[in-house]
Amino acid sequence: MGLFSDSLKNPEHPVVVSDAVVAALESALREPPILHAYRNGGRGGGAGPSIVLVFAGGGCAVAKFEDQVANGTMMIRQERAAWLVACRAGLGHLVAVTVLRELESQQTPGAHALASVQSVWPNCEAVPLSIPLDQVDPHDVLCAATFDYVVHATDRRGNNWVTLTGTQPGQLKLIDHGHAWGDGVSSDLYDRVKSQGPVPIPDHVKESCEQWLGTWPGEELAELLEPPKLDAMHIRVTSLVDSGVLP
Ligand SMILES: Nc1ncnc2c1ncn2[C@@H]1O[C@H](COP(=O)(O)OP(=O)(O)OP(=O)(O)O)[C@@H](O)[C@H]1O
Ligand SMILES: [Mg+2]
Repeated sequence: MGLFSDSLKNPEHPVVVSDAVVAALESALREPPILHAYRNGGRGGGAGPSIVLVFAGGGCAVAKFEDQVANGTMMIRQERAAWLVACRAGLGHLVAVTVLRELESQQTPGAHALASVQSVWPNCEAVPLSIPLDQVDPHDVLCAATFDYVVHATDRRGNNWVTLTGTQPGQLKLIDHGHAWGDGVSSDLYDRVKSQGPVPIPDHVKESCEQWLGTWPGEELAELLEPPKLDAMHIRVTSLVDSGVLP
């Protein structure tokens, strides 16, 4: 079950998404035939090797292939793990649904390669084009800081978040988690919340993390993440639940 805090309406009453709905969201990325696949060169980023997939029926996704970059095998699994962690921690509204799917390699004609396939946020602006952080929904910033602490995000310095154009306050979404589970947190969002002193995490996040610890880490996460990374994350989630405050 995933908890999606609908911060535009009421951060205290998160939207609860059943396992069946999560499975349907994931099927919508795993199953549709692909009409077009091309290099992601959109506004506000896209210098990297990610690929846009356009599905039969009109949906689209961002794909990253394990055979396209050094550490690709680890990085695409961490993209999937970030989505699962967001759901477990009650932060499912921040990270787009992400699956692993076997696709035609973009590197070797005729070969197949595993890729992370992530749903695309509509009408969004990536930093530096997105709005300044002081115009972003403070609840989203707190949730994002908590997420960045949990996954030890290392690649959130002036990049790798987007805001949904036209939302007021700006609704924040987090992308690009291939470099997470690092030795420390390197995140503008985490630093912003930390600069306010000791800040309690949202109640629904604390409750979700407590439930997650009861079934830790979950079968798939145990396969996706290396054991030392899981152990370090277990210590962080336990400290969040024990203190209720962002360390
Ligand atoms: N889920 C998403 N929804 C909307 N836009 C996205 C999404 N994922 C990625 N993008 C867009 O694609 C760009 C590149 O994505 P991302 O940062 O994940 O890939 P990357 O290969 O690491 O690229 P870079 O080297 O630019 O960081 C982002 O800056 C953003 O503009
Ligand atoms: Mg990036």
